[in-house]
Amino acid sequence: MSLVPFVFGHGPWARDWRDRVPAMRDCDDAAFVDVLAPSSPAFFHLLLAGNARAFGGMAIPAWVQLDCATLPSAMVGFAQRARDVDPALRADLCRRAGLAAVDDDALVPLAEFCALSTPQPGHVVGFSLFSLLPGLGLRAKALGLYVQQATTQTGITQIDNGALRTHCRFGPLVVQQVGVQVHSKPGTTLIYTLTSPAPSTLSALADGSLTRVDHALPTERIPREALRAGDVLVDVDARDAVVAQRPSGPPA
Ligand SMILES: CC(C)(COP(=O)(O)OP(=O)(O)OC[C@H]1O[C@@H](n2cnc3c(N)ncnc32)[C@H](O)[C@@H]1OP(=O)(O)O)[C@@H](O)C(=O)NCCC(=O)NCCS
Repeated sequence: MSLVPFVFGHGPWARDWRDRVPAMRDCDDAAFVDVLAPSSPAFFHLLLAGNARAFGGMAIPAWVQLDCATLPSAMVGFAQRARDVDPALRADLCRRAGLAAVDDDALVPLAEFCALSTPQPGHVVGFSLFSLLPGLGLRAKALGLYVQQATTQTGITQIDNGALRTHCRFGPLVVQQVGVQVHSKPGTTLIYTLTSPAPSTLSALADGSLTRVDHALPTERIPREALRAGDVLVDVDARDAVVAQRPSGPPA
């Protein structure tokens, strides 16, 4: 599998991020895709299509991908040349993107992570993550945190989302809130903060040579639904959450 890491944005930082992409065993040189270049609409719409496919139809509006992701930050991930993409997947993404076809050489994004910087240096807020090939979700998030030189990441997800397993591979997640009234999924939304792994660890995760960060915390299992603010989440399975350092006393 030959992958092409990409940085999709516009600001000068996005080119710097492309230059920071480490050499990876199964990857060609990283590509910088300028969201405002006349040649970029196909990539833009294929990325929206990949996101919609991964989320089961719930697509990011195009203006959100431009105004809230690729202009203020950049989307970072892995693509393949169209000729290397599974033909059924290629056809489906083209259909969803409203494209009759793409050239064999065109880049087709298959996994993507986007985080927005906060005024606190190194602290980013994860905004978007998807993967169409198992294993690329972890790698895209690791690559994004690596090139952005993140030290802390706040994330928003749902307690019943399989993505929690991916996030837990980066280290303990400190649960900030479970049930977020102002979210469109108020009952199940969870906000966590993660101390980003060291750059060398992120680079190994991005490369796929490491698949999780180990920890040595004593743990207990609880049903996922019992998660609460203050819990330190280290893993999940289909039913349970594995937490460490559960705070004593009543829920916050
Ligand atoms: C959540 C999501 C990004 C995870 O992506 P992913 O690529 O499947 O995630 P990971 O990189 O963690 O890999 C997942 C599994 O693939 C396995 N895997 C790794 N490399 C693999 C390979 N080459 N072949 C097959 N499986 C592989 C991993 O071991 C892991 O399996 P496990 O959980 O049973 O141990 C993806 O499912 C998705 O796009 N979901 C919809 C959108 C969404 O919910 N986004 C998150 C919002 S917070």
